[in-house]
Amino acid sequence: MDSKNKSGSIETVIKENRSFPPSAPFTEKAWIHDQADFDKIWNTSQENPVHFWEQQASHLEWAEKWKTVHHWNEPFSQWFVGGKLNVASNCLDRHLEARGNKNALIWEGEDGSVRKFTYQDLHKEVCKLANALENKFNLKPGDTAAIYMPLVPEAVIAMLACARIGVAHSIVFAGFSSHSLRDRIQDAECKVVLTSDIGYRRGQVLDLQKTVREATSQCQSVRATLVFRRENKTELIENEWDWSQLTSHQSPNHRPSFFDSEHPLFFLYTSGTTGKPKGIVHSSGGYLTGVATTAKWIFDLKENDIYWCTADIGWITGHSYVVYGILANGATSVIYEGAPMHPHPGRIWELIDKHKVTILYTAPTAIRSFMRAGNEYPLKYELSSLRLLGSVGEPINPEAWMWYYEMIGKKRCPIVDTWWQTETGAILISPIPGVTTLKPGSATRPFPGIIADIVNEEGKSCAPNEGGYLVIKHPWPSMLRTIHKDPERFKEQYWSKFKGMYFTGDGAHKDENGYFWIKGRVDDVINVSGHRLGTMEIESALVSHPRVAEAAVVGRPDELKGQGIVAFVTPRDSKDKLDIKTLAQELKTHVANEIGALARPDEIKFTKTLPKTRSGKIMRRLLKDLAAGKQITGDTTTLENPGIVELIES
Ligand code: WTA
Repeated sequence: MDSKNKSGSIETVIKENRSFPPSAPFTEKAWIHDQADFDKIWNTSQENPVHFWEQQASHLEWAEKWKTVHHWNEPFSQWFVGGKLNVASNCLDRHLEARGNKNALIWEGEDGSVRKFTYQDLHKEVCKLANALENKFNLKPGDTAAIYMPLVPEAVIAMLACARIGVAHSIVFAGFSSHSLRDRIQDAECKVVLTSDIGYRRGQVLDLQKTVREATSQCQSVRATLVFRRENKTELIENEWDWSQLTSHQSPNHRPSFFDSEHPLFFLYTSGTTGKPKGIVHSSGGYLTGVATTAKWIFDLKENDIYWCTADIGWITGHSYVVYGILANGATSVIYEGAPMHPHPGRIWELIDKHKVTILYTAPTAIRSFMRAGNEYPLKYELSSLRLLGSVGEPINPEAWMWYYEMIGKKRCPIVDTWWQTETGAILISPIPGVTTLKPGSATRPFPGIIADIVNEEGKSCAPNEGGYLVIKHPWPSMLRTIHKDPERFKEQYWSKFKGMYFTGDGAHKDENGYFWIKGRVDDVINVSGHRLGTMEIESALVSHPRVAEAAVVGRPDELKGQGIVAFVTPRDSKDKLDIKTLAQELKTHVANEIGALARPDEIKFTKTLPKTRSGKIMRRLLKDLAAGKQITGDTTTLENPGIVELIES
């Protein structure tokens, strides 16, 4: 099928609601392959999700079995209550006998250097670090540690070492600024920071240690920083420790303790609708059950797979599907430090051939960039090892889906378009390769044990093809437990819009086959290149600049990144003093310094005032239309002064 020449052919497929491809084209038998069996599992799980999840939890290794499967004190959920386990030993020790010599991690750097860790190797390193954290820094179960690292094996070792000793990790993506890092360390009261002196990206050297120093100088809770030194250039200062030196004296054995199923495994800060990111709290037993089960079923993980998820461990995708879900299944996880199109646009395809990757999981923005770079790059490589492709983080447009399917998967590999969130912990809506008929652009149907629906403003189920809000109607094991230090916000944000339902913040519709089509956020969160950003967070950064009086930030459609960031700013400067080109640059850099480069606005529009309703609320809809270059239509009569968006031109 040629998606480009027959114009609108993809749209036709969708409009006519014909399935494409007719069935999941698996060349080998998928782990789940019997349609009737699967339908039975799915139907039963919809009636009794708790039973389904109990069966899944039993595949993990528990030191003590739970007494109650699910305890629900709306909206606070507990799963496998009374059960005890160690998440790290589920990811490592459990596999040592059967697959100790199998690769757990394959790392490649931008310069082509490779490091491989078998399950045995990884276990050893994790034990050494766990011993160091306990003996040297006196970390105890219930403490928290921050991880601010590039995508190197030591980052994974850091996560598992924390998990092993019951210390909750809080990973901060190494592209975030020192301010963002400081705020997150302070909120989680981290006692130790694990970092690296430098990271590499697009041939550039990133000075991470400097960022950490700036951040920790304002964090009273931090006792020590452990630095994985790659250059050995910078002298260590007080309270900084050399990772390799410290761990080299530690025993490679560590006897794990077992923690309650509800013991917090990690905090992960994510953007919401207010200026301050929320610390999403995830549990141990429920989280691991969710990620291990979905990884196995959705990625069809088998013993010989080489699985590569391109996400950084700084995001939830990295937590769940680079580390925990994959290692819990004893699979091989590939990690690559650097940009997938550097040093040449075919780098990602080169890596797939080199490591014989069988499963690739990446984001639509990346797929669109590969597509834009040109077919000549993937065509240079064989890509014959691939058998399954995944997509995550934002809606995938059918054109990108078709390109991925034809050019990368050679019409041989099913695509699993997986919908989920930082809060959900694990994938909730996705095809199951081997049984689900795919439709380009749809994440298809809820995973077994997940009760999802589309509801209208009154909370009533929508009719087929009627747009509404995506909600989850029954708790699931890997759901967030709360927002750190803010249970009220947790209730308000997710459980107050519709009674008894988890509100996702996404708009969507279901078609007549019960397939879900996710449109995107309905709140003030935007999705830029698959990264979640709060518009209010960027506004706070802008108004912290002395020359800004007021600011409003909106997303606008962007062909490559999904959404771009547009800021409307009212400057303090009088018109004659104002040089808007210079100020725009200054403000873009200011936002990057305050939050991180990923929040840098694409465009800044200066206005004399911001359009507001009589009650003083900024008219975001109007700004969104303006940002997208649309004619301003609709009701603006509630505006205090309609037509007030007077742009200041250069
Ligand atoms: C969006 C990333 C459409 C959605 C795992 C969600 C998607 C937000 C998909 C969560 C998908 C994620 N199709 N939209 N397959 N996957 N999203 O927390 O808007 O970084 O609410 O988690 O990404 O982003 P987060």
